[in-house]
Amino acid sequence: VRTQVAIVGAGPAGLFLGHLLRQAGVDVVILERKDRAYVEGRVRAGVLERITVELMERLGVDERMRREGLVHAGANLASDGEMFRIDMAELTGGSTVMVYGQQEVMKDLFDAAEQRDLRIVFDADAVRLHDVEGERPHITWRKDGAEHRLDCDFIAGCDGYHGVSRATIPDKVLKTFERVYPFGWLGILAEAPPCDHELIYSNHDRGFALASMRSPTRSRYYVQCSLDDRLEDWSDERFWDEVSVRLGPEAAARIVRAPSFEKSIAPLRSFVSEPMRYGRLFLAGDAAHIVPPTGAKGMNLAVSDVIMLSEALVEHYHERSSAGIDGYSARALARVWKAERFSWWFTSLTHRFPDQDGFDRKMQVAELAYIKGSRAAQVTLAENYVGLPLV
Ligand code: FAD
Ligand code: DHB
Repeated sequence: VRTQVAIVGAGPAGLFLGHLLRQAGVDVVILERKDRAYVEGRVRAGVLERITVELMERLGVDERMRREGLVHAGANLASDGEMFRIDMAELTGGSTVMVYGQQEVMKDLFDAAEQRDLRIVFDADAVRLHDVEGERPHITWRKDGAEHRLDCDFIAGCDGYHGVSRATIPDKVLKTFERVYPFGWLGILAEAPPCDHELIYSNHDRGFALASMRSPTRSRYYVQCSLDDRLEDWSDERFWDEVSVRLGPEAAARIVRAPSFEKSIAPLRSFVSEPMRYGRLFLAGDAAHIVPPTGAKGMNLAVSDVIMLSEALVEHYHERSSAGIDGYSARALARVWKAERFSWWFTSLTHRFPDQDGFDRKMQVAELAYIKGSRAAQVTLAENYVGLPLV
């Protein structure tokens, strides 16, 4: 089998890229290690930046999002239980974000893939990339007891942090940058109305908490937890008690408790590997970089990567120019690093660090008080939160 662009991974990066290239008339095949139900079932991101909303529109997969998604013009910060609102739209000349879960995005993209005959091979085991330095790369995998091979012009490594694509690039070529945070996020989903119509990011002496949502009847909450914590340590009751204290009395009074139907712990990390291209292999999304979730940037960064990568590949096929391909890594990384900085800063501002002393804590509280009183500081936060432009 032969195709123009082989895409490894059917997460947000791989599926958005597949749709973009197919829309431009470029032939693609997507190889995914798991099945559709698995990819769609993972509870992950909840906030879409404008570039992601606009891409859904451009691909004609925005119909359900327009109906069911929640447009948010602001978000709240809380410092030791006292809340204040950041009017994102007013501060950015009208930009908003969309609350619409990654699971819903994936469902819409998979449905459209079926309708449009976008080729996805699920359950592709032992995927291996070959000859990516040469002119004729190919991919092999195992499925249903048989060995398969796909020849292509280019490979897009969209296979996430643990994927095979980044691992294919020789160590001497890759430069990696990393920060592992000494805590995790414990998240729950519950069938209960949210405690506020917007999100609340809270810095509390006992640790960070976040009140989010998936719909007017479904809440998503997170609390910072220890990396040693196990799910069994966190009964629903303990979770509700803790999140209530950390979000503060105003929010706590409106929290509706319900049994959680999803509960998981995620570690927090910042990670970037450079460059995002090696020969005919391009990395996009979590395969190349990870942000801590605080800024809600993970999936949106995967989207900006693949918008840039699709432009580069389309330029190659339509205009016979390699300028886009040659510039992809530097262009993508310029935006990635800004999102890394914002996510790191917002995490540092709102979390309790184990080695934090009294002075560090005072610095956090003072910075939050400064943001509360300064339009300049709020503009800085807001323009990053709604998403920096693609340049
Ligand atoms: P992924 O979503 O990881 O997709 C990669 C795909 O490649 C997967 O389907 C995988 O099965 C497949 N794959 C892997 N290896 C292979 C292989 N060898 N061969 C073939 N296929 C392969 N972001 C937020 O903004 N907010 C959040 O609350 C949030 N929570 C998160 C919680 C967790 C536990 C994790 C892991 C991430 C979270 N993120 C969050 C980040 C966000 O979900 C990711 O940034 C986003 O999914 C990145 O998309 P991607 O397509 O690059 O990678
Ligand atoms: C959600 C996750 C985030 O990381 C964030 O910053 C905001 C919302 C969520 O899952 O709803």
